[in-house]
Amino acid sequence: MIYVNHNSKQLEFHLCNQQVSYIFCVDSQIKILEHLYYGKKITHQADFYHLVEREIRPSNNLNFGSQLTSLEHIKQEIPVYGTTDFRNGSIEIIYPDGDAISHFEYVSYRIIKGKPRIDGLPHSFSNSKSETLEIKLKDKYSSLELLLYYCIFDEYSIITRWMKIVNPSNTIYKIEKALSFSLDFPERDFEWIHLSGAWAREAQLERDQVVTGVQTIESTRGASSHLHQPFMGLVRRETTEHSGEVYGFSLVYSGSFIGQIEVDSYDVVRVQLGIQPKTFSWVLNGHESFTTPEVIMCYSDNGLNGMSQQYHDFLCKHLIRQVQPFSQRPILINSWEASYFNFDEQSLYSLAQQSKEVGIDLFVLDDGWFASRNSDNGSLGCWCENKAKFPNGLKHFADSIHHLGMKFGIWIEPEMISRDVPLFRQHPDWIIGHPCKNISHGRNQYVLDFANPDVVEEIFIQLKNLLDSVPIDYIKWDMNRYISEAYSQYLSRESQGEVFHRYILGVYNLLEKILDYQEDLLIETCAGGGARFDLGMLYYSPQIWASDNTDAIERLKIQYGLSLVYPLSTIGSHVSAVPNHQVGRITSLQTRNDVALFGTFGYELNLMQLSRQDKQIISKQIIEAKERRKLIGEGRFYRLKSPFEFNETAWMVISPDEKEALIGYYQILGKANPPYKRLKLVGLIENEFYTIDGKGHYSGDELMNIGILLNGNYIDREQEFWNREVQGDFYSKLFYLKKL
Ligand code: DGJ
Repeated sequence: MIYVNHNSKQLEFHLCNQQVSYIFCVDSQIKILEHLYYGKKITHQADFYHLVEREIRPSNNLNFGSQLTSLEHIKQEIPVYGTTDFRNGSIEIIYPDGDAISHFEYVSYRIIKGKPRIDGLPHSFSNSKSETLEIKLKDKYSSLELLLYYCIFDEYSIITRWMKIVNPSNTIYKIEKALSFSLDFPERDFEWIHLSGAWAREAQLERDQVVTGVQTIESTRGASSHLHQPFMGLVRRETTEHSGEVYGFSLVYSGSFIGQIEVDSYDVVRVQLGIQPKTFSWVLNGHESFTTPEVIMCYSDNGLNGMSQQYHDFLCKHLIRQVQPFSQRPILINSWEASYFNFDEQSLYSLAQQSKEVGIDLFVLDDGWFASRNSDNGSLGCWCENKAKFPNGLKHFADSIHHLGMKFGIWIEPEMISRDVPLFRQHPDWIIGHPCKNISHGRNQYVLDFANPDVVEEIFIQLKNLLDSVPIDYIKWDMNRYISEAYSQYLSRESQGEVFHRYILGVYNLLEKILDYQEDLLIETCAGGGARFDLGMLYYSPQIWASDNTDAIERLKIQYGLSLVYPLSTIGSHVSAVPNHQVGRITSLQTRNDVALFGTFGYELNLMQLSRQDKQIISKQIIEAKERRKLIGEGRFYRLKSPFEFNETAWMVISPDEKEALIGYYQILGKANPPYKRLKLVGLIENEFYTIDGKGHYSGDELMNIGILLNGNYIDREQEFWNREVQGDFYSKLFYLKKL
């Protein structure tokens, strides 16, 4: 619901539903948008003038005619550096005179039922249960206009924001910065959370004190990156997983980004997120406009779990273009860790046969199937089969997989090119880099210039031919190289600052074209593991490979971190071989299963090297995984114990009808003579009774207040003293609860 107050003092806007309120006004003197409140829902009233704060402050940068209105001391919706505000602005435009002085004044508003599309960019979508407020501002010094968008959804404590810069004149401007939003909080009583990491160590949860000055997360690499997720949150000091306030900010974008929290001398906290200005500038020609990516802001007063549950449900229903419900998504086996580049048609076929026998639905042929690819030093950009490996053709192989009753999937890395392919020889100018300067390689490959629409079209045609000639149900879309030495031979001198953003727009365009061409194609994106795990990619691909680290224990942290924002149904997770290929750790099949289950769930190992007994275990685990798929995909997820804090991790998921729940418990290192341990559950119905794994009779309040005993209980079983269970290292256990 969007209220507009035209009271005697000022014009006010109040976006509000049962959970959240967002209030701002138009300052009547200087006509800028002044922020008043964002947080838990408050009752609407016809006048919020009393929320405006002004203090007499020593200041030598006052607006003419006023003793109070220095922009430095006003909480704003769209701050500009270069005025009387010395903090980070959210927009910077260079004028023909070379200055960057803007002053955007309120002009009008419009309320739109539902949510408009954001052309060319991934975005959340909605039916009639949302409203969008469009605010039009005009620059005092030019004819430039700003359209600010705020969308509120009835059923979620979620508000999304984005903005459009419109140039109705013939004059040419340069945009140096255009963040998706800026938001000023009146006090600094916060800590901030973010997900940081590295290759094979993605999404490590960090929580720090907010301090005076600027704290930043960012990517300058052309992808959202392994280093930081385009997500951050503000939490109160007392906020836990289950209680307290949280504000989450998540950007629907896959390129270089910046997220900043700036605390000024008056304890005002400015939060901003958007396209990375260091790698961006944009020539705004006459009669053109520029639109920023959308940011999804989520408020919760039910702790971090409360925020995550909002994000999970919202993203599944309003962002991810689902090909099919998670419960029907295939359980896959991926050939990468099974054989890397060393395979032929026969060895793969045997792997597929074994996979079918244990109950796997989809066979994914990873890297190494095309041109003359037998290692990572060539062939990218030539998306036709490797004749030596597939003498009967790839179609023949895909058909044979289909005849087994399985689906067929394939790996591609469409944004990259190697030197040894015809496309490179024909178009050496199609790679990113300056022709007379060093162009670094990464994994022996170069980045195709997706800022050039001809390049996108050429790769689309190659992929379309592939889809036409081979029956493909699934694509793993990989990207293994950041952008360095950014230069596009397609773009003019003035537009070189556009390379990074145009590149990612080209990637989105190709994804859009492929999905338009084959609507039912399931795409799993990947970027050397989780370097592009972001909402931009999720719009097109309902699952993303979370990390090249497949070790069950390391995965606890990665999956726990990702679950802060992303639903379990999106987190690519596989059972792999032991010793694990990344860390050399040996864990049981049970533990590997119990971790991968809380994600997309699949396999990535050579089944032919397993014992008959292990394969029987896997068959059983797959049957169980299929039974639990609906619960995991649609249920409400709770994190119970953090791997970042304890020797144990625990999480649970409760079905939407609250009739069943699945709990995953994991112990890292075993302890001799352990203390008594109980796991207290959450979210159950207090006075209902549940069985655990088909046994017993436990009330919801018992399970939530007393908890499940995690040690073995040997009451009446003294005779088992010498053969008692010792849980050991890397132990895991699932508990399945059913309401009686
Ligand atoms: C990086 C991916 O993350 C891996 O899963 C695998 O597909 C390799 N690339 C193949 O080159």
